Amino acid sequence: MKATPSLRDQRRAQLADLKMPGALEALDEILSGLDGGSLKAPAALSALLAAQIALRNHRRLDAAMRSSRLPAVKMLTDFDFSFQPSVKREQLESLHTLGFLERKENVVFLGPPGVGKTHLAISLAIAAAESGRRVYYGTLGDLITSLEEASQAGRLLHRMKTLSFPSLLIVDEIGYLPISRTGAMLFFQLMSRRYEHASTVLTSNKGFEDWGEIFGDDVMAAALIDRLVHHCHIVNIRGNSFRMRHHTELHRALGSTRQSTPRDTQKPSRSRGKEGTAT
Ligand SMILES: Nc1ncnc2c1ncn2[C@@H]1O[C@H](COP(=O)(O)OP(=O)(O)OP(=O)(O)O)[C@@H](O)[C@H]1O
Ligand SMILES: [Mg+2]
Repeated sequence: MKATPSLRDQRRAQLADLKMPGALEALDEILSGLDGGSLKAPAALSALLAAQIALRNHRRLDAAMRSSRLPAVKMLTDFDFSFQPSVKREQLESLHTLGFLERKENVVFLGPPGVGKTHLAISLAIAAAESGRRVYYGTLGDLITSLEEASQAGRLLHRMKTLSFPSLLIVDEIGYLPISRTGAMLFFQLMSRRYEHASTVLTSNKGFEDWGEIFGDDVMAAALIDRLVHHCHIVNIRGNSFRMRHHTELHRALGSTRQSTPRDTQKPSRSRGKEGTAT
């Protein structure tokens, strides 16, 4: 006669049927906790669901790392706020709840080299990917090259659509490499497409007042900035490079020869909301 499956086996079969491998893996330990009295039912239920959510997020992150071209994994929990006091923990934690994505707002990180602009942009991208949203990362140079290549191959519209589609686009390293006039125009078109449709996180070592020089056209740069900052959180980081934290002498020497922070920039036309946030 066939033995009746134990309750534990029935739960296992149900979780397998529901395709919940994370919960399945955690089941034995949670049930042992319940049996031994170290866990109460509500906590056990939370632990079971948390195990499944953790696995799902991990898988989403894996998939996103492959498709989004993120160059590294950087988390907000790894960011040392005491090293960079100009970065406000509350503002960053609030951004990581991703309301800005719902509201199609942008985020701009400004600051000198090594202060954590890319780190924070990536950690936002990872939070977005874990929440199931589509994310894409590129340096300004990479994105423009891909648009130029697509244009030469007669596939510009397709490429524009591909880059307009993700809920979050990261545009890293604005200001380091010179860009062509055509490249600047293509980037302007991309940002115009995304304006009020999807969020973009941008990083730059230069203040907005220098973007005319970067894009080779003051009028276009002003129109670009106008769209970007209309609904935007600006995080202006003033501080030392984390890369150089063990080289204080070198840092002091460099600090005396370079301008360390992009100046706080006035919003070009539309009204500005609370500090650091244009609404
Ligand atoms: N406050 C911090 N806490 C922990 N790690 C940090 C912090 N700031 C920066 N880092 C780390 O230091 C390195 C440099 O930071 P990041 O690449 O984000 O700088 P950046 O501002 O983008 O510089 P660049 O303008 O040169 O691109 C990275 O490995 C990053 O994870
Ligand atoms: Mg960077």
